[in-house]
Amino acid sequence: MLILAIESSCDETAAAVVRDGREILSSVISSQIDLHRPYGGVVPEIASRDHLSKIDPVVEEALLEARIELEMIDGVAVTQGPGLIGSLLVGVCYAKALAFGTGKPIVGVNHIEGHFYSVVFENPAIEYPAMALIVSGGHTNLFHVAEEGKYKVVSRTRDDAAGEAFDKAAKMLGLGYPGGPIIEKIAQKGNADAFRFTMPKISDGRPDLSFSGLKTALSKLIKGNNDGVLSESFVADAAASFQYAVVEQLAETTLKGARGLKVKTLIVAGGVACNLTLRAAMEKVANKLSVPVYFPSKHLSTDNAAMIAAAAYPKLLRREVSPISMTADITLRLQNVDNIDSRLKGKVKYRL
Ligand code: KG4
Ligand code: ZN
Repeated sequence: MLILAIESSCDETAAAVVRDGREILSSVISSQIDLHRPYGGVVPEIASRDHLSKIDPVVEEALLEARIELEMIDGVAVTQGPGLIGSLLVGVCYAKALAFGTGKPIVGVNHIEGHFYSVVFENPAIEYPAMALIVSGGHTNLFHVAEEGKYKVVSRTRDDAAGEAFDKAAKMLGLGYPGGPIIEKIAQKGNADAFRFTMPKISDGRPDLSFSGLKTALSKLIKGNNDGVLSESFVADAAASFQYAVVEQLAETTLKGARGLKVKTLIVAGGVACNLTLRAAMEKVANKLSVPVYFPSKHLSTDNAAMIAAAAYPKLLRREVSPISMTADITLRLQNVDNIDSRLKGKVKYRL
């Protein structure tokens, strides 16, 4: 089964052709990082305009690289949400036009579910129940996945996403954008024990994550240091200590969340899964849980369309297709209220 997938939820215009949900025939990604760099973050208006000009050539290239004609595909997959509305609309409208024009089915995919499926290409088959930590620039969630397609939130961030925290920390340290990879690089030269950031305390005791306190602590540390004049060694030590604190929180929350749930696989995906310190910490968590841990390789960790095709594959097999009237939905959730862990249910309004 050949799926042509499109991803345009944030600042990457991507298209891929995937056979049987596992074999990537092509995966083309046009990144807008250089366009947004001067602003230190993604500017939604610039993002949608760039998607509009790139979507056609990116899809053309994906078909060309895969050596297939449009008529040969069995279905179109597209990221439906969550994401930036203007960005999502470009991909969704394009995908709908393709589906309508070719008469092929269309499958709307949740972006977070896409990240979950990014591990299927280079790892053994996922054994359920699984535990999945999805850490990206826009999302940080720990899911219990009882069986394929059944997600339950165990923990989620109360404020910033982990990637967002890296991006903001880098900005404060004058390191540029996007922050995650830069912090990781600079941290190699620093001492992670130089500064101790305390783990957040969630006042209602729920097993959630929080990164905004860390950000404030870093800002205070910077201001208190030499009146904000930052030496190279201070920046390296601060980056290493900050990275350690983020990773420690993610690893501890995952371990606590997974204990007693008898999971068979641990999955770590999303842009922050590129981080080698996080990978090492999650390997340790997996060891403690006596389960294998699966990561996507670097090019599949950050946004891409191959993962969207992989997520759409089981849906298309089940003929779970979207109506042609489907549209972009920034509020799309991976679970419904009934799926929320009973410890969390009814107490907070969920935003994933
Ligand atoms: O998954 P992704 O491409 O986009 C979203 O869906 O948000 O993730 C991008 C995020 C950015 O915040 C970026 O700083 C972070 O992933 N990131 C990293 C690393 N590489 C990318 N964070 C920490 N360490 C990295 N090596
Ligand atoms: Zn993403």
